[in-house]
Amino acid sequence: MNNQSRKYLLWFAHEHVDFRAAFENFLQEIDSILNLFKIVSSKLKILEKPDDQPYWIVESNSESIVKKIASRSISLRFCIELWAYANDFTAFHNSLKVLPKTRFEPYNNKDKSFKIVVETFCKHLTQKEKIDRIETFSYLPLEGSVKLKNPDTTLYYIEYYGIEPNSIPYNPKTLFFGRWISNGQRDLIQKLSLKTRKFIGNTSMDPQLSLLMANQAQVKNGDIVMDPFVGTGSLLVAAAQFGGYILGADIDFMMLHARTRPTRITQKSRSSDESVAANMKQYGRSSFYLDVIVSDFSRPMWKPGMRVDAIITDPPYGVREATERVGSAKSNPIIDEHQAATHIPSKIDYNLPHIFRDIIDFAAQHLEIKGRLVCWFPVYRYHYSEDQLPTHPCLKLIANSEQILSIYASRRLLTYIKLREPQENDTVSTKNMLDFREMYFALRDEPRKERRMKQAEERAKNKAEWEKKCRESTER
Ligand SMILES: C[S@@+](CC[C@H](N)C(=O)[O-])C[C@H]1O[C@@H](n2cnc3c(N)ncnc32)[C@H](O)[C@@H]1O
Repeated sequence: MNNQSRKYLLWFAHEHVDFRAAFENFLQEIDSILNLFKIVSSKLKILEKPDDQPYWIVESNSESIVKKIASRSISLRFCIELWAYANDFTAFHNSLKVLPKTRFEPYNNKDKSFKIVVETFCKHLTQKEKIDRIETFSYLPLEGSVKLKNPDTTLYYIEYYGIEPNSIPYNPKTLFFGRWISNGQRDLIQKLSLKTRKFIGNTSMDPQLSLLMANQAQVKNGDIVMDPFVGTGSLLVAAAQFGGYILGADIDFMMLHARTRPTRITQKSRSSDESVAANMKQYGRSSFYLDVIVSDFSRPMWKPGMRVDAIITDPPYGVREATERVGSAKSNPIIDEHQAATHIPSKIDYNLPHIFRDIIDFAAQHLEIKGRLVCWFPVYRYHYSEDQLPTHPCLKLIANSEQILSIYASRRLLTYIKLREPQENDTVSTKNMLDFREMYFALRDEPRKERRMKQAEERAKNKAEWEKKCRESTER
């Protein structure tokens, strides 16, 4: 970095504080964005990247690099050019006071309006307290008028009180001040809200996680993005926002044709035009819709040479929806000729190791080199270890973070990158993988079973005692 370089503060949303792993997803999102824009450490130096805190401090000699990150990030709330920061009020104001005048010059003009925004983290300030804080900056050489709506310059003052809501210190841990540069893309979360989306289902993925997945997959203009367990297409809605052409498949004809029961309690029946295509239209992305087809993922149907740039998917876990594939328990099922046209194929269980073997195999075969597979992998929390994850010699696992779902279950967001084309003997390994569905129900029901057994034992004991008493009284 040369002496033109400046410090920037990246301020992240911290709404999943309870499950820090989701926060990890955010950090991994930034790593993916840096890699997508080929922002190397000589262009952007990360000075502070505290693990569990909602900010990074970085250094760069190009503001446009920071703007590029903001143009894609879902986890980033805003970024500022950092003019001062310190751990106490005196040091903070002293460092702002000695800031070279040249730093203010472009904004210090009678014709240039400004405003100061006061942000606090983990503490609430009243409006009066905020105004008092703003007044402490009266020494700043800002001659323009204050304008609250669309000012020429927005300055941010942030008081950071740590992340422990139960032990908030009296004074802030760190104070920051700087010039606002850009907001992240969090408005997209609102724009794609499931509340207002045309076609949703019980397992539709929320927009924040869908957008994060699209960033993890590095979806960019012109990419072909596929979801082989597409459902209502939430992941593809997010991919299309970043310019991906979308392709989906799902075994459930009724779901794809919106003939299942509506998900909204207020909705009595589904309207005839609900579909993934309708969702694309709703967000002005119809031209990015390639197709969505009914197909069983366990039965390969794509030509070997078919290539996609990214696969993002959330396969069924077998808890809220069935994990099924076309098949029959009979060894040699025969369909009579006259029934063939109207025959609906029977289905059999499609267990998790089998699903992931197919996903990984599919990715190894059909991803472009350097293409990414981003998928959720459900785990039983107390029995998880990394060696349970599927592996393939052509794919490298580059990110793995946890979102806790309940005391028993969580899911891990896995990102794989394809390194090379598969060779003849390359195979998927799922050797240590546990069947989440089986474990989930067995272990969840264990305490219930124990309780029932105890109750049955107690009932039998009471009955025996009662019968003994009856016998004794008749003998007398
Ligand atoms: C967790 S849901 C995906 C939800 C989707 N991400 C959304 O936003 O609506 C899993 C989907 O996998 C589908 N599925 C289950 N078994 C399948 C199979 N053998 N082949 C293809 N799709 C299957 C289900 O019908 C379901 O829609």
